[in-house]
Amino acid sequence: MAQLRDGFQSRIGFVLAAAGAAVGLGNIWGFPTQAANHGGGAFLLVYFIVIFLLALPALYTELYLGHQAQSNPVTALRQAWQEKAPKIGAGAGYMGLCGAIVMLSFYSIVAGWMLAFSLEPLAHVFGFEKLSQFLKGDSTLRNFIFTPLMLLLTASIILKGVKSGIEAWSRRLMPVLLLLLIALIAYIATLEGAAKGFSAYLIPDFSKITDPDLIIAAMGQAFFSLSLGVGCMMIYGSYLKPNENLPKLTLSVAALDTGVAFLAGLLIIPAVFVAQHNGVQVFQDGKLIGEGRLIFAVLPELFSSMGAIGLWVGMTFFVLMSIASLTSTISSTEIPVSFLVENHGLDRRSATWWVTGVIMVVASLIILNFEWLFGLVISVFTQYQLPLMGLFYFITVGWMWKRGNQLRLECKGFHYWFAQYVRFVCPVLMTAVFLNVAIK
Ligand code: ALA
Repeated sequence: MAQLRDGFQSRIGFVLAAAGAAVGLGNIWGFPTQAANHGGGAFLLVYFIVIFLLALPALYTELYLGHQAQSNPVTALRQAWQEKAPKIGAGAGYMGLCGAIVMLSFYSIVAGWMLAFSLEPLAHVFGFEKLSQFLKGDSTLRNFIFTPLMLLLTASIILKGVKSGIEAWSRRLMPVLLLLLIALIAYIATLEGAAKGFSAYLIPDFSKITDPDLIIAAMGQAFFSLSLGVGCMMIYGSYLKPNENLPKLTLSVAALDTGVAFLAGLLIIPAVFVAQHNGVQVFQDGKLIGEGRLIFAVLPELFSSMGAIGLWVGMTFFVLMSIASLTSTISSTEIPVSFLVENHGLDRRSATWWVTGVIMVVASLIILNFEWLFGLVISVFTQYQLPLMGLFYFITVGWMWKRGNQLRLECKGFHYWFAQYVRFVCPVLMTAVFLNVAIK
């Protein structure tokens, strides 16, 4: 049965796909904004600590659960809880599936904006001014055009399967993403005002370092950025061949994701200061202007203040954002698709269209109730659901799963120490962070 499953054909294919899942709007949009609003380098420092102490073990734990089960998250968690309470395990798997659908719903809306902004310079160049205004203006109609477009792009890759769809496209898109990012950083760094941005980003404001808000923001950001807590990494881990070196692959994925987040900061924060230098208002009440306005108002204003070249810089930036979004949406879509194929016998085509349809329905609800629902869904999802699911995975691997669990049976070397860390240190650290916020 296991041989019949589709899967990754090469290690580099897996690393690029998993890094593609991880690298997304969270890195290029969320990370720099969080850093700017939480003491620049102080956030960076706390973020690196959280990545190392919690997110890296959580990534390994999630990949490991999928890799051992060679199955989708519902089955993997049910099996892991088999001896204690299989229903609880499966229930958590279903929560992950719902989380993936919710995440895809808000994520596809934002990814759709990125697509619209990528096309806008073309409309401008060809003289379609009305179209250009429509593409960069906020509207329900634009959401109802570009959200399904993003979902269709995602579905077209998912329909091809893991090897020919996810792996093949990740191998093409990820190098392009890295090249675009580096080219943009190099260009922005040459502009006046950028140097001030580099210092704001890299020099820590230590007075913020013990702020519980900063710590929970860093934890939510780290879990969201590594796509932890909904089963993305579990499903990708399940498509790895059984004899792969999981710790090494985990490190490569986390290093790529964190590296891209760091690079994104080197692009966005200096760009914001260049915009400020050019007379654009970027801070309000001591905070960086609201997240949405930063990307869709401040940066476009900066691009247009650059003259003709700004058109191409802007287009490159939004193409970069669209690619980053796409490599993330495919990973989350694969979770419910694999579940419908493996547990309900649907063929891949029907499963993909069902999942795409359900995401569109949930996204429509968000679009129609945008004012109050959009931000709420994002903050509940990133700051609570993801880390809590991470905590659940630690407890699963550390305490609940006995038969077949290498981290319990093989009490030697790395496995022994990692098992102790997952059992005792990770759950305590995560609970401490939550308690810290609750009593604040
Ligand atoms: N991990 C993806 C991101 O950072 C979801 O955007």
